[in-house]
Amino acid sequence: MSARAHWWAMAVAIATPTCAFASPPSGAASCLGCHAAAGAESPVVPLSSLTAEQIQSAMQAFRSGTRASTVMDRIAKGFTDEEVRAIAQWYARDRAK
Ligand code: HEC
Repeated sequence: MSARAHWWAMAVAIATPTCAFASPPSGAASCLGCHAAAGAESPVVPLSSLTAEQIQSAMQAFRSGTRASTVMDRIAKGFTDEEVRAIAQWYARDRAK
């Protein structure tokens, strides 16, 4: 088990009870451990306040290091482009309505 896998298991364990939605794409629930639901007071921006494009481009910038971060670089490296796209569309789903 790598340190990163252990870290993820913790993040998922923390985030799971706060996730009120059915069947999010793989990995999406773990974001809510730090990114609160829309409207909640949090220093970390709620993901549902962003468009899918904003989430995807931010994740790519964190992964490549072109955008500075404290934790998101490591998190972004744990997802493929396809996974990021699915997660981004899931969080942005309410905006399309
Ligand atoms: C351990 C806490 C943590 C987790 C888990 C986490 N984030 Fe973040 N996220 C942050 C922080 C803190 C920032 C601000 C940038 C930084 O310092 O890394 C951030 C910034 C972002 C931004 C940029 C928002 C903006 O201002 O434009 C996006 C997009 C994002 N995260 C997406 C995600 C996604 C998608 C997931 C789940 C796969 C996730 N985050 C999981 C803590 C977290």
